[in-house]
Amino acid sequence: MTTTQAPDMYAAGGEHIAAAVDLVKVYRQGQAGVRALDGVTVGFAQARFTAISGPSGSGKSTLMHCLAGLDSATSGQVTLDNTELTGLSDRELTRVRRDKVGFVFQSFNLLPQLTALENIVLPVTLSGRHVDNDLLDHLVGVLGIGDRMSHRPAELSGGQQQRVALARALLARPVVLFADEPTGNLDSQSGAEVLDLLRRSVRDLGQTVVMVTHDPQAAAYADRVLFLADGRVVDDVDATQAPKAPQAPQTEESAGRAR
Ligand SMILES: Nc1ncnc2c1ncn2[C@@H]1O[C@H](COP(=O)(O)OP(=O)(O)OP(=O)(O)O)[C@@H](O)[C@H]1O
Ligand SMILES: [Mg+2]
Repeated sequence: MTTTQAPDMYAAGGEHIAAAVDLVKVYRQGQAGVRALDGVTVGFAQARFTAISGPSGSGKSTLMHCLAGLDSATSGQVTLDNTELTGLSDRELTRVRRDKVGFVFQSFNLLPQLTALENIVLPVTLSGRHVDNDLLDHLVGVLGIGDRMSHRPAELSGGQQQRVALARALLARPVVLFADEPTGNLDSQSGAEVLDLLRRSVRDLGQTVVMVTHDPQAAAYADRVLFLADGRVVDDVDATQAPKAPQAPQTEESAGRAR
C-alpha cells in the first residue's frame, strides 16, 4: 500500500465533489472565437464554501455553468459527484442538474405565479422526492421568511426573494449549490444576510457551495477564493488560514510532529 499524499490535488474525482480538468470554452462569434475558458483545472472539496472571483469577462459564469451542467465545454472534462458530465446526453444532463445541483442566480429566478412556499418545494416535488418538512421548517426559520410563505415573488422584497431562492436550492439538498452573483441585486444588509446564510449552510448542513462574485467583500465569506483572469486560474487562496497570524516558533518537538 502506498502512502503517497494527493499527488495532484486538482485531479478530477477522488476527494473532490466537483472538478474540471483542462477545461476550454470557446464561444463562436462569426469568424472569430472568444476563449472564455483557457484550460482551467480545479477541484472542489465537499462541505466547503468556494468563491470564484475575478474581473468582468474573466470566465467566472462560464466556469460555473460548465461545472453545473448548464453549458457544455469545448474540450476538457467536468466531473460532478463522480459522474463525468462531458459525455452525457441532454436528457442525462437534465437529470444530473435536477438531482444533484442547486442554483441561486443574481435575478432570483422564482416562478411569478407560484407562492414562496410553492417555489421552494417545486424542485423536490418535480424530482419525485418527498419534502423534508423538518429541513423546510429549519430553512424557513433561519431565513426569517415564515410569514411570507403565501406571498408571490412580486409581493416580496429583493432580499426576501433571494432568501426564498436559497431555501429552494437548499431544500433539495444538492450535491453542490452554485450561486452566480447572489448578492448582485441586493442592498448591503440583505446581501450580508444571504452570504451569512450560505456560510451557515456549509457549517450547519455540510453543504458544498461554489459562488461566483466580483465583490471582494462577498468573497471574504468563503473558505477559499479562486481568482480567474482571461479564462485562467491565476490565484487560489485558502481563506481559512489567517493571512497575518503570527507563526508559532517551531520547536524540535513540533517540527517532529509535523513530519
Ligand atoms: N453566449 C456567449 N456568446 C459569446 N461570448 C460569450 C457568451 N457568454 C460569455 N461570453 C464571453 O466569454 C467571456 C467570459 O464571460 P463570462 O460571462 O464567463 O464572464 P464573467 O467573469 O462571468 O463576467 P461578469 O463578471 O461580467 O459576469 C467574455 O468575454 C464574454 O463576453
Ligand atoms: Mg458572470
